[in-house]
Amino acid sequence: DLYHEKHRPNYHFSPPKAWMNDPNGLFFYKGEYHLFYQHFPDQSVWGPMHWGHAISKNLTHWENLPIALYPDSLGYIFSGSAVVDWNNTSGFGKNNQPPLIAIFTYHNMAAEKAGKNDFESQGIAYSNDKGRTWTKYANNPVIKNQGVRDFRDPKVSWDEARKQWVMALAVQDHHEFWVSKNLKDWSKSGSFGKEWGNHGGVWECADLFPLKDGKITKWVLIVNINPGALNGGSGTQYFIGEFDGKTFVLDESFKPSVMNGNGVWLDYGKDNYAGVTWSDIPKTDGRRILIGWMSNWQYANIVPTTQWRSATTLPRELTLKATSQGYRLASTPVKELQSLRNLAKKPLQVSNVTIKDSLDLNTKLGFVPTLSEVELSFEKPKTNDIVNIEISNAKGEKYIIGYNSEKNTFFSDRTKSGKVDFSNDFAAKIHIAPRLSDSNIIKMHLFFDVSSAELFADDGTTVMTEIFFPNEDYTKMNIKTSGAPIKVKSLKVWNLKRSWK
Ligand code: FRU
Repeated sequence: DLYHEKHRPNYHFSPPKAWMNDPNGLFFYKGEYHLFYQHFPDQSVWGPMHWGHAISKNLTHWENLPIALYPDSLGYIFSGSAVVDWNNTSGFGKNNQPPLIAIFTYHNMAAEKAGKNDFESQGIAYSNDKGRTWTKYANNPVIKNQGVRDFRDPKVSWDEARKQWVMALAVQDHHEFWVSKNLKDWSKSGSFGKEWGNHGGVWECADLFPLKDGKITKWVLIVNINPGALNGGSGTQYFIGEFDGKTFVLDESFKPSVMNGNGVWLDYGKDNYAGVTWSDIPKTDGRRILIGWMSNWQYANIVPTTQWRSATTLPRELTLKATSQGYRLASTPVKELQSLRNLAKKPLQVSNVTIKDSLDLNTKLGFVPTLSEVELSFEKPKTNDIVNIEISNAKGEKYIIGYNSEKNTFFSDRTKSGKVDFSNDFAAKIHIAPRLSDSNIIKMHLFFDVSSAELFADDGTTVMTEIFFPNEDYTKMNIKTSGAPIKVKSLKVWNLKRSWK
């Protein structure tokens, strides 16, 4: 019974079977959001990589399509991107329709095993049928290896101002930029990163795009890094600056935050990795939407699921926010997710109440917390308080996400969440996220989906994404406080519908 297995998310994308890691080839075309993903269809562990494929009209309901790209003699198909070639610069167009071009990394396992360094190169493939079938370019690779081991994950976009294609490429401990007029012939135009940000691991999956704050445009460089994340393992850092047509130039104001090995992180939970954004979302919509892989290389291969492994995060809209520390990214769940609210079950709504010790929501909810959305806002406590939103089961297993006023941090505690001992890295400690906002009202917007929690705090300026595996589904929800009572301005809890039929 597909999508009903234990721990299977009910409204997140996960592969119909077997292994998934990074989202790949995100583009929008003719009303469809395309999602490809790193996929090994034969087993629920990482292996020879294919591009799995799904589409959605609304970012909430996904339709699985056949595998789009299979490994070939040049190698496994590693991560990459896809674009609509509106002007047919590549010449692959047919019948006056723009071709769709996928740009990916070939990883030659045999060459790697033979001890060579030149086993990663970039290839392309095209589609003339709305992404349903793909033909690999006969003259692949389009970028040969330059003698370096880690040389992958091309993220391509159209640079309207200079009428060129730009590729951000992950190369060992930095990112490179390559430019092209036709997606086939590429030249290296710049590089960024050796002296900035966190270098605790290899720089992987890049993304480069402009974002507007009123009249100001800034460029964002997304850098996924493994390991090196603040709470351990894989994580996503980013940089804010300019793109000058050749390379990424860091903003002066951003430099202090990324000096001496420090990173600025997109998400402080342990389970949002390899996130990149959709290409070709129409200008009339104008959103920049990111989706990540909801796992971490520390334990992705051994989490306690069997028929499939891993899901994506919820799609998030990225916006630029001026803060006291300079420009930062905010992530908010896409508005389409509101359509999942199950209005047949009455949402719980409370306003202006004081919580001392505990507010038991079980009797009030009328639905299980494992498929729910929570919006809580409360006054920033003047004394030391810990506010816990706790979901739990009859076995005493619990997952807690909350706010610590003494440290001014949000936190996610899965140490007693159920199955935790499959990895020493999974639940050794409570994971923390510094609060960025200085508002006197603390806002927590949360999504629970069977085995995951996503927190968008203070309008998305602090984000945490984490997974957990209770032996029995959680059935109870409580808000607990320790310290002085907290003043809740508003609390809403909705039941969410499954998005899989
Ligand atoms: C990131 C990553 C990429 C690579 C892919 C392989 O999670 O390591 O750098 O292309 O996964 O599956």
